[in-house]
Order: sequence, then C-alpha cells, then structure tokens
Amino acid sequence: MKLAILCEYAAPYSKIVSAKGFYHLYIDAFAGPGSHISRTSGEIVSGSPLNALGIEPPFREYHFIDADLTRVEQLRSLAGDRPDVHVHPGDCNDILLREVLPRARYGDFRRALCVLDPYNIDLDWQVVATAGHMGSVEIFVNFMVMDMNMNVLLSDPRRRTHRRLPA
Ligand SMILES: C[S@@+](CC[C@H](N)C(=O)[O-])C[C@H]1O[C@@H](n2cnc3c(N)ncnc32)[C@H](O)[C@@H]1O
Repeated sequence: MKLAILCEYAAPYSKIVSAKGFYHLYIDAFAGPGSHISRTSGEIVSGSPLNALGIEPPFREYHFIDADLTRVEQLRSLAGDRPDVHVHPGDCNDILLREVLPRARYGDFRRALCVLDPYNIDLDWQVVATAGHMGSVEIFVNFMVMDMNMNVLLSDPRRRTHRRLPA
C-alpha cells in the first residue's frame, strides 16, 4: 500500500517539477535492497528504489542510502552504471545532513522528494527539521503507529522511564 501511494505521488511530482524547470532529486534514505521476494507468492516485488527508477519523466538524480552493506550491494547492482544514481552506505541521518540535502538547496532552483521509511524509530528529528526549513524538500515518512505510541508517547527520554497512561 505504501509503495502504491508513493508511486501515485512521485510520478506526477516528477512531471510537474521538471515541467517547471527545476533540477529535481529523488532521495530514499532507508532504501532497502531495491526489490524483495514476496513471502506469499515467491515472486520478485519491487521496493521503493526500483519503483523510483521506473518513474517517467525520470528524476535528475537518485540517492539511495542504506546502513546494511548487503543491501547496499544490491542497490549498486540495481543502479548498474547509471551516472544519475548514487548509492550511499551508512547512517542516513548523517549522510542526509552532510551530503545529500545540501544538493537540494532552494536557491539553486532544486527540489527533492525524500522518502523516509525506517523499520524502527531510527530517524533523527534534525533531518525532518532541516528538510522542513529548506523549503525545497518534500518528505514522506512511514512509521508504525504502535512504535510511536510505545516509544514516544509513553516514554520520557529525559527520565528514561515509562509514564503511566491516564486511567
Ligand atoms: C523498511 S526497510 C526499507 C524498505 C524500502 N523503503 C522499500 O519499500 O523497499 C528499512 C531499511 O532501512 C535500513 N536502515 C535502518 N537504519 C538505517 C539508518 N540509520 N540509515 C540508513 N539505513 C537504515 C535497513 O537496513 C532497511 O534496509
């Protein structure tokens, strides 16, 4: 479902933004391997990076980031020798702030669509805040509501204890 929503958004985004003459980037910060095998059918299912590479018109640059080196290798083979695809190994929080988001500055007439799809709450707020302040980056954040409830609403990081829910 999340992948379908993302495709439905990314394709018109690319069309509209490129028609306005912007240089636009697709950023997938918790990229995964690019594709995976379906548990139910055994078929190969596209992940968000592979879907993004099929979008028409294409983005000018693609940035795929993953902390898992096996997945990074899979992303590299997906990219082949395409010069517009950049695969970054490591912690996306750091790589986004240092290397990738600076490539999407508003004043440089650039725009970016940034997908943030962590398994857990591995996303630093600083990334979201920076992207928001840039005015040139649209973000898609996928998170589990249960995880948020457990880790954000119920726990107080200042005390590292769990709060009680009101009766
Ligand atoms: C939910 S999967 C991504 C699935 C992908 N969006 C898709 O639809 O095919 C999350 C990925 O984030 C990676 N990951 C976890 N923490 C990370 C971090 N701090 N920086 C970069 N990648 C990370 C994991 O290795 C995993 O491949």
